[in-house]
Amino acid sequence: MRVQIAPSVYACPLLRIGEAIDAVEAAGVDALHLDVMDGHFVPAISFGMLFVREMRARTSLPIDVHLMVAQPENLLDELVAIGVRGVTVHAEAFDGRPDGFRDLGEVLRTIRAAGMRAGIALKPGTPDTVFDAFAADIDDLLVMTVEPGASGQSFRADQVEKIRRISGRARPIGIEVAVDGGINPETGAACVSAGARYLVVGSALFAGGLDGVASAVSRMRGLDQP
Ligand code: DX5
Ligand code: ZN
Repeated sequence: MRVQIAPSVYACPLLRIGEAIDAVEAAGVDALHLDVMDGHFVPAISFGMLFVREMRARTSLPIDVHLMVAQPENLLDELVAIGVRGVTVHAEAFDGRPDGFRDLGEVLRTIRAAGMRAGIALKPGTPDTVFDAFAADIDDLLVMTVEPGASGQSFRADQVEKIRRISGRARPIGIEVAVDGGINPETGAACVSAGARYLVVGSALFAGGLDGVASAVSRMRGLDQP
């Protein structure tokens, strides 16, 4: 079984985004992972809808958007118009709202009703019971293996058991389990053994410059399952 490899464009040399997209596409990745950060849900600001639109025009790869924003509902119309495949929102963005998790369910159903894949991302400290509460409304579950907000952090090995627990419940009902943060051939192998089949990879793909992308992708391909 092929393990899905999705480069995190945020981790590429930002002034060479176009060339980076061409390089990962030529290397045979499965999707692009776009990290949208609003300076509020996480301290950093990455890029907005204008860039997502430009990236859509640059590649024929499916685009999956990881929204690290406080109000994901405000971006959904634009993401539908752009034509992305999947939208993943952070469960924690709804914590503390007056209608908290009811809003989350509504956002997930809106994403699906618009014909996109709906996903929930969980920070390392968020319990997996949140997954169970929304399992009926999602196609993808993104387990964060770092605190969201920056590329280049070290993988949190304490998340492997969570991946294993969630995969055991998610995969039988057709939910894709993805991981994001500090993924390289070694940490990716631990996630795949625990049940993840979709790996977001940032620094490990781009650390060797754009010339190193093809060999970095082929090292990740070593994780494909028989
Ligand atoms: C972190 C982002 C990641 C990040 C991954 O908040 O969600 O997608 O760019 O980068 P690496 O693989 O370097 O941790
Ligand atoms: Zn991400």
